[in-house]
Amino acid sequence: MIEQDRSTRTLAVDIGGSGIKVMVLDAEGEPQTERSRVETPQPPKPEPILEAIASLASGQGEFDRVSVGFPGVVRLGVIKTAANLDPSWIDFDLETTLKDRLGKPVRVANDADIQGLGAIAGTGVELVVTLGTGFGSALFVDGILVPNLELGHHSFRKGETYEQQLGRLALDTVGAKRWNRRLEKAIASLQNLFNYDRIYIGGGNTKKITFDLPRSAKIVPNVSGLLGGIALWRD
Ligand code: BGC
Repeated sequence: MIEQDRSTRTLAVDIGGSGIKVMVLDAEGEPQTERSRVETPQPPKPEPILEAIASLASGQGEFDRVSVGFPGVVRLGVIKTAANLDPSWIDFDLETTLKDRLGKPVRVANDADIQGLGAIAGTGVELVVTLGTGFGSALFVDGILVPNLELGHHSFRKGETYEQQLGRLALDTVGAKRWNRRLEKAIASLQNLFNYDRIYIGGGNTKKITFDLPRSAKIVPNVSGLLGGIALWRD
């Protein structure tokens, strides 16, 4: 029984606005394969994305179950929002569809939640934000997730949301210098709001950060977005 649990292999999938990534983890969450990535198909509708996942999965060898991080609100495996993908995702049952497609049990969660699960210490108030195509967020209290936090679409400054001010489009439009100034303000504003013990900052655009982060902040590697997938199978 224990032997069997140890050898359970999880295919971790991270669906992003610009790339789809996969990797196989063992039962302890240790990577067993090289991470593999393809560009997110355009338009990013369900069918081509499922196709991309199935094709990436076939290059990863054996696996027993699948964890998926999705860039939107997910309720019981069903997609509720998909701001940076395509509106046809709304009410799409990703968990069941992918389970039927791959023939393995599937669990789906918000991408920032998974990133957080792969990064947090599990004590106190911990906030996770991700800087990629969108602005992801997850809040944990003593390791318990506060569900469905969507700071990205919440008002930040100058009549714009956190995502409008700090998403990839904003970075490309206003440049790294202004984007950094905005991020510094966002971190201060979120500290005032949540009084967190720690803030974790993930996502591909963390490499654009040029200012000194406060002591409570920690940059998390991008791979946490896959590694956290193992936590979806903890009881
Ligand atoms: C979505 C979030 C997601 C974030 C990062 C936002 O637009 O609403 O659910 O976590 O992008 O992908």
